[in-house]
Amino acid sequence: MTDRLPHPRVLVFAGSSRTGSYNKALARLAAERIERLGGRPTFIDLRDHPMPLYDGDLEAQQGLPENALVLRRGLADHEGLLIASPEYNGFITPLLKNSLDWLTRPHEGESGLALFEGKLAALVSASPGGLGGIRSLALARQLLANIGVTVLPDQLAVGRAADAFDEGGQLRDEKQMEKLDAICRRLIDSLHRLHG
Ligand SMILES: Cc1cc2nc3c(=O)[nH]c(=O)nc-3n(C[C@H](O)[C@H](O)[C@H](O)COP(=O)(O)O)c2cc1C
Repeated sequence: MTDRLPHPRVLVFAGSSRTGSYNKALARLAAERIERLGGRPTFIDLRDHPMPLYDGDLEAQQGLPENALVLRRGLADHEGLLIASPEYNGFITPLLKNSLDWLTRPHEGESGLALFEGKLAALVSASPGGLGGIRSLALARQLLANIGVTVLPDQLAVGRAADAFDEGGQLRDEKQMEKLDAICRRLIDSLHRLHG
């Protein structure tokens, strides 16, 4: 391993603002695992960065919301992304889409898309349903590819999420825990290879 990027930085967030969000729980756990595996994660809660629904008139009149600028800076400071994507009617959530839409807009001559270029992402999801929100992952993958992000093939969809976490926030299922670790490890290793 090169020492040029000893601790790849990974921005970790979920597409849900809900207090008891399973996806936030999964994102927090992923951040914990990334740190343990030698990465430098930053967990952000999109609830702390509310933005209006994207509107071209609003953008023309007021520019980007302050929170979009905060997230842009966060994005610029990280080489990797780990996103926990909840599933609404087989899709990604409006929160995730809206946040990414604002982030891709240009600001003061700087392209929003350029911020995503070269980023590497991993995707996970959780749902109370049996499929764990897996349908949202295909769409999140497509959206990220559209904006220039390379997404790792490995993913984890945690079904029956209401019972999936123990009191300490760990996944009860050992195999799911191993899968999450494998995803985080691959993300870190790939970031090393990409930036080394
Ligand atoms: C509008 C809406 C649509 C939903 N559609 C799906 C769905 O298609 N598949 C699924 O597994 N869960 C679906 N759910 C249930 C969510 O998975 C559940 O609310 C989950 O807790 C959301 O993620 P969170 O816990 O991170 O907030 C839906 C929930 C809402 C509010």
